Amino acid sequence: MQWNEIEQLIVDFVNLRCEEEWAINPRVFAADFAKAYRQLQRTHFEDPDYNLRLAGEAYCLKYHLQRMDNVNTALNFIHDVYPLLQEAQPSVLDVGGGTGSSTMAVSGWFTGNNVGNSLNIQYCEPALPMNSVAKVLVPRFLQTLQGNSSAAVPFVSCDINQELLFGCAATGRQAEKAIHDLVVFSFTFWKQEQREFARTAQLVLDIGRLLKSSAVMFFLTPDKPVEKSNS
Ligand SMILES: C[S@@+](CC[C@H](N)C(=O)[O-])C[C@H]1O[C@@H](n2cnc3c(N)ncnc32)[C@H](O)[C@@H]1O
Repeated sequence: MQWNEIEQLIVDFVNLRCEEEWAINPRVFAADFAKAYRQLQRTHFEDPDYNLRLAGEAYCLKYHLQRMDNVNTALNFIHDVYPLLQEAQPSVLDVGGGTGSSTMAVSGWFTGNNVGNSLNIQYCEPALPMNSVAKVLVPRFLQTLQGNSSAAVPFVSCDINQELLFGCAATGRQAEKAIHDLVVFSFTFWKQEQREFARTAQLVLDIGRLLKSSAVMFFLTPDKPVEKSNS
């Protein structure tokens, strides 16, 4: 699938959502959308409120494609030095998946590189406005990805959950099972890492228990690293 097709898919989705909301109440829609969009300007300084109404639609417009590109670049880069997803049916965990950009990037990369025969992605995202966008956008993307190709493409299935990182870690603790081949944290933490470094690090370590021994876990972070507090 080409980048311009993905961009079109995102724009069509946001357009449709805007039309739906506009039809209900244009003034409320315009005010809420502007508020959600303005929140995203805060990302380098404070946590945006991802629970704001229309936060997912605003995020889609501002960041979704760029984040997909970031993840795709990271996958190519890592794959060059350490071949990824070589298992027949690899499993991926997308933590703090937002509007689904990493899930989509990994699916696209996997089908494009033809490395296994079916991929399972577990996406978790606590903020409902982000999660509800992913619930529409990701299946639409997967359908296009798999339906458009004349060649046989590997099958990608995706489990979309509304969970906290803590939920994932707890699942790992109970299961004590190493199941994932890849774990992606794409811009998952902003101020949380600074505010609660020790706790965040512990949660990440707990998630590490879900990795198979040959697995990879990677983090994309803001370009300006946050200063760590002493806590
Ligand atoms: C900047 S967005 C990134 C979304 C997506 N990964 C991307 O790259 O486009 C950060 C996301 O992480 C989620 N998040 C923040 N803290 C989290 C936690 N402790 N556990 C799971 N998700 C979390 C937020 O709700 C938000 O949707």
